[in-house]
Amino acid sequence: MSTVYDRLGGAAALDKAVDLFYEKVLADDRIKDFFAGVNMVAQRQKQKAFLTMALGGPNNYTGLSMRRAHSPLVERGLSDGHVDAVIETLAATLTELGASPADIAEAGRIANSVRDDVLGR
Ligand code: HEM
Repeated sequence: MSTVYDRLGGAAALDKAVDLFYEKVLADDRIKDFFAGVNMVAQRQKQKAFLTMALGGPNNYTGLSMRRAHSPLVERGLSDGHVDAVIETLAATLTELGASPADIAEAGRIANSVRDDVLGR
């Protein structure tokens, strides 16, 4: 059975998707301020590894848990609206790269599944 990771096009497609995703994130007034001062080279690498694992590809993620990674952001006011914006941005990215509506919906469900951890509840 193939995974969303495979159907999106594997490692090369994920690389491209994460680069485009952060271009959009850093241009989005709703969420860009959270990334001020963040090392975006490292962030892209961590997100590639995380999404690869979450979408059913190989698990090489060695970063922090979603709860731990985002707890300083929760203290700065991270909320459901910000998570919605990130999931919307992921969908816009995958749409632009030609993913199928079903795969985009599944990627959105997977991202949404870490919402409570990201928001520390
Ligand atoms: C919705 C699902 C989300 C996923 C799957 C996700 C994934 C990740 C991952 C894998 C990391 C790296 C953790 C590490 O450093 O080891 C991270 C860090 C980070 N995330 Fe998220 N994230 C999500 C939501 C958000 C949202 C909504 C925001 C803000 C709008 C956000 C902003 C950040 C920032 C700023 C960092 C870097 C923290 C730092 O290095 O100081 N994330 N996230």
